[in-house]
Amino acid sequence: MEITPSILTADFCRLGETIDAAIDSGIGWLHMDVMDGNWVVNRTITFGPALIKSVRERVGPEVFIDCHLMITNAEETWEQYADAGVDMVIAHIEAVDDFTKLIRSLNTVGVQVGCVLNPDTPAEEIIPLLQDLDLVLVMSIVPGKGGQQFMPEVEGKVREFRTAIDAQIATGGRATKLMIDGGVKDHNAAMIAEWGIDIAVVGSGLINDSGSIKENLESITKSLEM
Ligand code: DX5
Ligand code: ZN
Repeated sequence: MEITPSILTADFCRLGETIDAAIDSGIGWLHMDVMDGNWVVNRTITFGPALIKSVRERVGPEVFIDCHLMITNAEETWEQYADAGVDMVIAHIEAVDDFTKLIRSLNTVGVQVGCVLNPDTPAEEIIPLLQDLDLVLVMSIVPGKGGQQFMPEVEGKVREFRTAIDAQIATGGRATKLMIDGGVKDHNAAMIAEWGIDIAVVGSGLINDSGSIKENLESITKSLEM
């Protein structure tokens, strides 16, 4: 299981150093949480395309960047994120009216597409789109802020996606990646890996826990080996 950091709970004045530390620790994927002050329940604003563009310029073309859009109008604004240099746009199924149209638009500019669902949204909402998705993201917290408690009740949904993706691969279809986001720490990482997750987003567990990013990443990696 691969780990990608959410920089949401970083000190934004030291963002460059935090990102450098993550990359120096061997991380090759950055997860950027975009909130527009409207869509998430706590009405948080985080950052937008301008900051993502700066991050892209800092890390160069080698690091994979996804943007997790927690915004009301992804259908009208996706191009700004493509222009900022993301490799993948991850949009919420609950926030987009015509997801197939969004997939087609992103395909035309060569940006990968992920679809994310909230803890109370059933897998069935996304399964019909699976063959056209590069990634499915299961939220294991209610989106809005970092540092929340992991919701183990998403296990059934994760396993449902794992089964559907494996069946898709077995019949020559796309190897859609399966990601989880929210409350992942060293004490639950091995359990999540066993559920069949390919990539786990880790925010506070990497950036705000007592050790350095490198130490925290090592402790998660070690927990996966046990
Ligand atoms: C929340 C974000 C997450 C979150 C992860 O809406 O999507 O990426 O910040 O942070 P932790 O790992 O602290 O739950
Ligand atoms: Zn996220």
